[in-house]
Formats: sequence, structure tokens, C-alpha cells
Amino acid sequence: MIDGLVGAARGARERAYAPYSGFLVGAAILADDGRVFTGVNVENASYPLSVCAERTAVQRGVAEGARRFSAVAVVASNDEPTWPCGGCRQVLLEFGADMVVVSEGLGGSRMERPLRELLPDAFGPDKLR
Ligand code: THU
Repeated sequence: MIDGLVGAARGARERAYAPYSGFLVGAAILADDGRVFTGVNVENASYPLSVCAERTAVQRGVAEGARRFSAVAVVASNDEPTWPCGGCRQVLLEFGADMVVVSEGLGGSRMERPLRELLPDAFGPDKLR
């Protein structure tokens, strides 16, 4: 299952639109109903409008009706695994505080961490209930 998710992220990475940074990122997120949504970073000539791969994947899933995700895989452009940026950690938390984050480097090494560890003491939806 995780292998498939990582494979989907790796495949998506090839479709990243990153002409400015040259840093291609692919993500794949697993919804609770079993669907997988991929995402890539989509950069823009107006740099701040660029969107990370993880966020693209979340947005695609939510737009298709998914609301809970249990795992996300990320493949970026480093030999070693790269963790999602802080902003993406926050966006991921919204739809799955118990999510597992898996990152694989281009060299093939893989790391896995619970999202909660990557974003300790988070401000999530529970704080507004
Ligand atoms: N990027 C992602 O797609 N995900 C991250 O978690 C970190 C950064 C993208 C944004 C930008 O297009 C490029 O990587 C360089 O920052």
C-alpha cells in the first residue's frame, strides 16, 4: 500500500511544473475510502502564487469529496527524503491529524513519520470546537 503511494508520488513528480526553481515535487495522498490523489508543485511567474505538491494533492482530494486522509507520500528532488514544508504540514493536519507521512529520496531511501511529530503542538480543527 505504501509502495503504491510512493510510486504514485514518484510518477506525479515527473509532471511537476517548476520552471523557476527546477525543484520538482510529487505527492500522493490516500483517502479513507481508498482513493489516491496525486499532486505536483505548480509554480507561477508571480512566485508567491506557486503551490506545493502536497497542497495540490489535498485540494484535488477535497474537491472530489474526500475529507479524511490516512497517509501521504512525497518525492522531491533531493537524494535523501524531504519532509513537507511547514505550511503543507498545517494543511495536511486539517484533514488527518493521524496521517502518516512517507518521503522517499531520489536515491531510494525512505523515511516515515507521523504528521503529529512533524507538527507538534499544532493548531488544528479541534482547537475551534
Ligand atoms: N515545494 C513543495 O512542492 N513541497 C514542499 O513541501 C516544499 C516545497 C515546492 C514549492 C516550490 O515550487 C519548490 O518546491 C521550491 O520551493
